This record gives sequence, C-alpha cells and structure tokens, in this order.
Amino acid sequence: MDVAGRNLSKENAPPPSNHQTAATSEMVKMTATTVQHQHPTNAVDISSEQDPLKKVAKTASYGESGLVILPDVVRRMDGLACSRHAGVMVLIDMVEAHSSTYWITDMDLFYSLSHTVVIAGGFAALYIVYQVLNTVYTIFFHPLSHVPGPWYLAASRIPYIRHSLNGTLLPWMQALHERYGEIVRYSPNEVSVISGKENPWQEIYGFRTGKQKGVGSFEKDPAWYPTPMNGVPNLLTAPGDNHGRQRRVLSHAFSDRALREQEGLLQSYVDLLISRFRDISDRIPEYAAGGDGWDSTGKIELCKWYNGFTFDVITDLSFGQPFGSLADMKQHLWVGNILEGLKAVKFAYVTHYFPFVRRLGSLIINKSQIQKRIELFKWIQVKTATRVATETQRPDFVTAVMEHQKGRFEEDDGKHAEDLRKGELVSNLGLFLVAGTETTATTLSIGSYFLLSNPAIMEKLKQEVRGRYKSNDEITVDSVTNFEYLNAFIHEVLRYYPPVPAGFMRKVPKTGADVAGVHLSGKGNVSISINQYIANRSSLNFTDPERFVPERWLASRPKRYAKDNLAVVQPFSFGPRNCLGKNLAYAELRLVFAKMLFNFDMELDERSAGWESRLQHHTLFYRPDLWVKLTAVTD
Ligand code: HEM
Repeated sequence: MDVAGRNLSKENAPPPSNHQTAATSEMVKMTATTVQHQHPTNAVDISSEQDPLKKVAKTASYGESGLVILPDVVRRMDGLACSRHAGVMVLIDMVEAHSSTYWITDMDLFYSLSHTVVIAGGFAALYIVYQVLNTVYTIFFHPLSHVPGPWYLAASRIPYIRHSLNGTLLPWMQALHERYGEIVRYSPNEVSVISGKENPWQEIYGFRTGKQKGVGSFEKDPAWYPTPMNGVPNLLTAPGDNHGRQRRVLSHAFSDRALREQEGLLQSYVDLLISRFRDISDRIPEYAAGGDGWDSTGKIELCKWYNGFTFDVITDLSFGQPFGSLADMKQHLWVGNILEGLKAVKFAYVTHYFPFVRRLGSLIINKSQIQKRIELFKWIQVKTATRVATETQRPDFVTAVMEHQKGRFEEDDGKHAEDLRKGELVSNLGLFLVAGTETTATTLSIGSYFLLSNPAIMEKLKQEVRGRYKSNDEITVDSVTNFEYLNAFIHEVLRYYPPVPAGFMRKVPKTGADVAGVHLSGKGNVSISINQYIANRSSLNFTDPERFVPERWLASRPKRYAKDNLAVVQPFSFGPRNCLGKNLAYAELRLVFAKMLFNFDMELDERSAGWESRLQHHTLFYRPDLWVKLTAVTD
C-alpha cells in the first residue's frame, strides 16, 4: 500500500536491487555507512502524474548497490511532504512498503533522522528534568506538603490508579489511614479524611451555614464524573446553579407526597418478587426445571432477582414501562450491560489526568460495549419521548415533573428558565437507571447475606416482623418507616457496606478551608473526599468496627457502643447534593426485607458459603451469586 492507501504494483516500481528484504532500521544503518550524499539528478515533468508512487518511479535514480536516490522535488510533491521531517515520515512509509522488493534511501533521510533523534532526545531530557523538579515541588513545597502520607504518593498518582483499577483500593486506603491517621494525602493533589473533631461531612459536603458560612462550596471534582451519554449535564454532573434548578424541579418526583402516590406501583413489584419466590420454592411444575436465577431444586439466586426488582421499579417510574425482568422471569439484557458499564467510571479519572490514554481508546475499549451504550441511550430517548407524549396521570417521575411545569418541556431557556428541558429529562432518567438500581440491589443482597449468616439477628427480626403483621397487606411504607429494629439492621448494613464505598471527590474552594483540623489551601487544585467504607470501619469512629451490630443504632443502645460516631455514616452523601432517591430507596429496602421475613424462612446454600469474601469493589460492589433456600411460611 502507498501512503494514500493504494496498492502498489510492481510494474510501477523501479527495478529490484540485489539486496532485498532488509528491515527498515537495518537499511537506515547501512545507508549511513555505504552511501555518499547525492544531489537530485533528474528533473522530469511529473505534473500530470497523479499517483505519488509513479512520481517516485519516474524521478528516482538508482545509486550504487541498487539504492534509490529521491530528488527533493519528490518530497515536495502534493500529498507527500512539505517539510523535511514530514518527508522523512513519507519516505519511511515507502521504505516499508517496498522493503521486500528493493531499497529506497537517501543520505538526507539519515541526516533528517539523526536530527529528529537529537531533538527527541533533547525533549526527553527536558521532560526528565521537569519531572524531577515537579516531584521535588509536590513533595516539599506543594500546598499539601503538610498533610500526612508517604512521600512517594505525594510524588505520583500511579499507585492510587493501580489500586483503583485492580479493585484493591479499599484495603490499600484502610492501611494508609491506619498508619497516618484521620487525614491522608494519597496522591499529589488528593486527600482522604475519615473523622475529625467537627463532622467532616458538614465541613466538606454540607450547606454553607454556621461555621461554614464564609467558606466557599466544595464543588464536585470533574475527574470523577463522566459526561452523560447525551452530553447534557444531569443532577450528578451539573455545576452550582444549574444543579440547583434541576434539583428544584426533580424534587417533586421524590417528595413524601410523590412516594405515597408511588406506593401502589412499588408494592406491586415487591409482591411480584415475593410471589415468584413462592412459586419457585413451592416447586410448581412450570418452574421445576430451573431457569434464570433459580435451579431445579427450587433454590434461588437472590442477586439476579433483586436486580430485576430494582430495575423494574425504576424503569416503570421513569418510562411508564418496566424492563420486565420479574414478569419474564429473566434478567433483561441491559441490566448486565449497565452494571458492566459502571466499572468503566474509574477510567474517566485515568483519562482526566492522562488524556493520552484516550487515544488508546479504540485499543482498550470494547467496541461492542460502546455500541450497547449507544443502543441503551437511544432506548432511553425513545421511551422518554413516548412517555412524555402519553397523556396519563399515573404517579411516576414524569407526571410529577410535568405537573410542576404545567406540561411544558422546552428545548432551551425560553420564557421558563426555571423549567427542566427535554435533554435534561433524558439525561436524568438515564442517571436514575444507574443511580437508583444497583445501589439498592446491593444493599438488599448484602443485607440478606447478613441475615443468613447471623442467625440470632435473623431470628430477632423474623419474630418482630411476624409479631407485628398479620398479613402482607399490613406491610406498608408507613408501617415500616418507624420499625426500629428493622431500621437499625438496615443502617448497620449501610455502615458495613456503603454501596458507594469510596469518596465522592470535591474540590477545595478558592477560599481554602479547614477539614479535620487541617488547613487546606485553595491553591494547588486540591481535592478531598470522605472514604465511607474506611470511616465506617475505623476504630476512630466505632467500637468493634468490624462487628455487625444493629443494636448500636437503637435509641437504647448498649453502653459499649455509646460513643459510636453514628453521624459519620452517610451512605446517601450529605448536604445539597445528597441522594435524591434516599426515601424511595429506604421504602424499597424496608418493604422487601419485611416481606421476605414475613413470607419465608431463609437458609444459605453451601454454594454461597463465604460469599462476602468474594465481593469485588469497582466503584460499587460486584456481587457473586447468592444462593438460598426459601421455605414459604404463610399463605
Ligand atoms: C441504597 C440505595 C442508594 C444509595 C446508597 C445511594 C447513594 C447515593 C450517593 C452516595 C449519592 C451522591 C453521589 C455523589 O455525590 O457523587 C447519590 C446521588 C443520587 N442518587 Fe442515590 N443512592 C441510592 C438509591 C437511589 C435511588 C433509588 C435513586 C432514584 C432514582 C437515586 C438517585 C440519586 C440521584 C438522582 C442522585 C444525584 C443527586 C444530586 O446530585 O442532586 N439514588 N446517591
């Protein structure tokens, strides 16, 4: 192929030399020793010739040993080269193209290459000097140089990235905090904090009131937030005022009133889940052969079903149509894809700091994964448009927003600058599909595992639920809201395994700020976060942090746990950007746990012994199969 991608034919080519099939580098080396520099020898009219290689053939002369001498005119030909260095690139291409037939070379090529090598070497040396000086600066003179942490992490973010990509971030960070205390610098410009005399949640994420009144807001660090699929900022990614406007509108879909109105829909999916489990565990003939999420002995793999449940709830509330995993009794294709896609979030961080990695994109990114993302986005777009065009008063997210906006969806600011725009609705419904599903399903799975592996806790909860309710109908959102031991159990699950375990990174404001008694400068592009998992497992905050003890959350908690710092547990984040779906999530968790305990005796299957140790952390927790035997206890 020639430089323009055309096939080269041998009839266009100059005669072959005696020396054939030498590698390019070898040729350059030999040229340097055997060929004298020669000036262009011929001036042929090549203006009518279109094919660059034919031009070469017409104008080249052949030196001793069959070497081809290219006149300067060739290098200046259209499409070939305008400068000497670009010319080298073209010539190299030609050499490679013809290496099996004959040699093309020129002393100029050698000179140009040696020039290039010298310049590249110069740049490399400058780069090394820059890196050394930069390292000295970040370790000793950076505004974070007073924050505890190992020197090599002050110099490089590579260890952090390595642990993040390997899924070993949590134990690594835990070890750092154990060694350096409540605040640690773990990369040149990033700090993690897990406790403090004042509540660090308030200091970083809280409303700017009280002691924080004069302190600027800690805005989200864009390194951690990938752009939504349609490029339109949503609640998670929109900055300051834009976020405030969107949140004011969307809050109507998540208010107490909205949740009450959504309860019928929510309960219908909880009941469908329970009735599927009954049918399978009762081994009715239709299901006896096993299927997607259960086996032929009637045992059930809970994670798949919990995913099906949370995705059905969110897709129905968003688009008026569920994925249908519970109805079809098989996991919808996109559930797996969305969960896999979440793993890629950490690449956003890598490409933020190392943009050149983006260029490797096509090599490292699975193209079919991208195609699936595009298809998913199109699906969201179509379903949103269909839902918006449907006249209905069903109590879902879209109805709540449309009621508030009097049925309007504007393409731009127009007259109603406070409204949510169409693109923003699409972007946010796409966000709900991710934020509102895996998080809740993870908590359900982990909570079930803790029930199954803590018989005393399971027994206590079972007795309380069965003593409290006489039928499934009595288990309502209202009645479970103040169920103290059930709530204590859920809080402890969220303490032990917060579904978003590593920090939500925030930028220290220009004003600078004090966090955990340490002053952080507004200079130096500094980011900070609270690593929940580590804060929640630290003896700085809890007695017996590694023990699962729901009782620590009771009003009359045992004295031993009286000093536990419960305020440090914030699985839904804190302040103006906390989780919008928190009430919905609690309602789902309480209803499912209460109805599971009311309807079934549960037993861990031996396939899932030690399940917890196989959880993997990649932004969220990835769960292995959780097999259980359910025995229905009521009609
Ligand atoms: C156990 C379940 C859940 C947990 C632990 C959880 C946790 C979180 C956390 C930690 C954030 C803050 C993320 C950040 O600042 O980077 C967040 C934000 C958010 N979550 Fe949840 N979430 C859960 C369920 C839900 C549900 C059911 C929905 C419903 C759609 C939802 C919708 C959202 C939204 C829209 C935001 C962005 C809020 C904003 O920035 O204004 N979440 N969630």
